[in-house]
Amino acid sequence: MIRFEHVTKRYADGTTAVDDLSFEVAEGELVTLVGPSGCGKTTTMKMVNRLIEPTEGGIFLDGDDISTIDPVQLRRRIGYVIQQVGLFPHRTVLENTATVPHLLGWKRGKGRERAAELLDLVGLDPSVHGDRYPEQLSGGQRQRVGVARALAADPPVLLMDEPFGAVDPVVREHLQNEFLKLQAQVRKTVLFVTHDIEEAVRLGDRIAVYGQGRIEQFDSPATVLGAPATPYVADFVGADRGLKRLSVTPIEESDLDQPPVVHLDDPLATATERLRSEGARWAVVLDGRDNLHGWIPADATADAKDTANGRTAAARGATRGTVREHARRMEAWLPLGAPLKQAFATMLQHDAGWIAVIDKESEGRFLGVLTPARLHEALRRSIDADAQDVPRAEVAVETVATIATTA
Ligand SMILES: Nc1ncnc2c1ncn2[C@@H]1O[C@H](COP(=O)(O)OP(=O)(O)OP(=O)(O)O)[C@@H](O)[C@H]1O
Ligand SMILES: [Mg+2]
Repeated sequence: MIRFEHVTKRYADGTTAVDDLSFEVAEGELVTLVGPSGCGKTTTMKMVNRLIEPTEGGIFLDGDDISTIDPVQLRRRIGYVIQQVGLFPHRTVLENTATVPHLLGWKRGKGRERAAELLDLVGLDPSVHGDRYPEQLSGGQRQRVGVARALAADPPVLLMDEPFGAVDPVVREHLQNEFLKLQAQVRKTVLFVTHDIEEAVRLGDRIAVYGQGRIEQFDSPATVLGAPATPYVADFVGADRGLKRLSVTPIEESDLDQPPVVHLDDPLATATERLRSEGARWAVVLDGRDNLHGWIPADATADAKDTANGRTAAARGATRGTVREHARRMEAWLPLGAPLKQAFATMLQHDAGWIAVIDKESEGRFLGVLTPARLHEALRRSIDADAQDVPRAEVAVETVATIATTA
């Protein structure tokens, strides 16, 4: 969709802002450009809509060399959210949003209708905010208007230059989440500039990590974090890249352990037997549809057994129940595909040595459990899997878990 071929930009004073840049962005893909101040991100962006012309090389949009497209025509195909938002202060929110339709000569009514629709899409009520002026909005609201304005003419391509740069981290996270939902709906081809690696990782299908005027690495977030291509990238993504990587690595079925499983209506004696034969300290308890109910500790079944072995027939009768009476509810569970970071957080929150993983697709069917050792192993294997470009399940690593089971 967007292709850079050996693009160099030298400014008149001799500054080389961008040096021999080649990369490609697929249709519907969101690529984040991340790097320190002055590394050439805005320059890259502005060359796409011809606000800046390259010194050398070519840029192609849908196969067309953009240097042969009239800039006005070109910009109709490209929405642009500029650094620092740049709303017109003396125009209302609705007028600001309708800027491009207005420039394109749409009828006033149609432009305003479209603007109202878009404000709604970015979470602003047009009847409340539409007639306000930018200074009457919060920073986060202004940034939403910037996004709505860029989407107004429904362009296939969006250029976003630090669109959420001017707000505090909490609002920023909120805007990022909204934007991800929006992007899932509109599926634009997006170049998104940020100097914040967290933001780049969170939003990007792929990340271009910039050094001075050059791309040091162009990969998926997980690969950039797990296998930085150069010491510069490793340094840029930070010492806590392992933690960051947890947030972009999903729980997979091959990460799960299969502990003993019993059902709510099983006789307690069956559960006792199962636990003893497998030497387990607890079992997962499922309901009649194989959905997660909770768990049962070995001592609950052992107590029952002791009592059942006890003197009176009455006592035996009272404890010869089913698993149901002794099962405990399990709050620590997640759907398959949830990030490993969430699994780790859930373990900590519930002070749990394992969490249950369920299949959201099939109404919560129990799939297995994730333990801290398996979580660590999943992270290790995912790094190797990315490096070798194979599925994670195919990678074997030696970890605490495998050492423990083979010892
Ligand atoms: N018109 C210009 N003339 C000369 N040098 C320029 C011009 N515009 C930008 N530069 C230089 O080109 C380099 C890249 O600038 P650019 O604006 O692309 O950086 P950036 O990565 O967007 O930085 P930031 O994160 O601060 O926005 C910088 O060194 C900058 O000083
Ligand atoms: Mg910039």
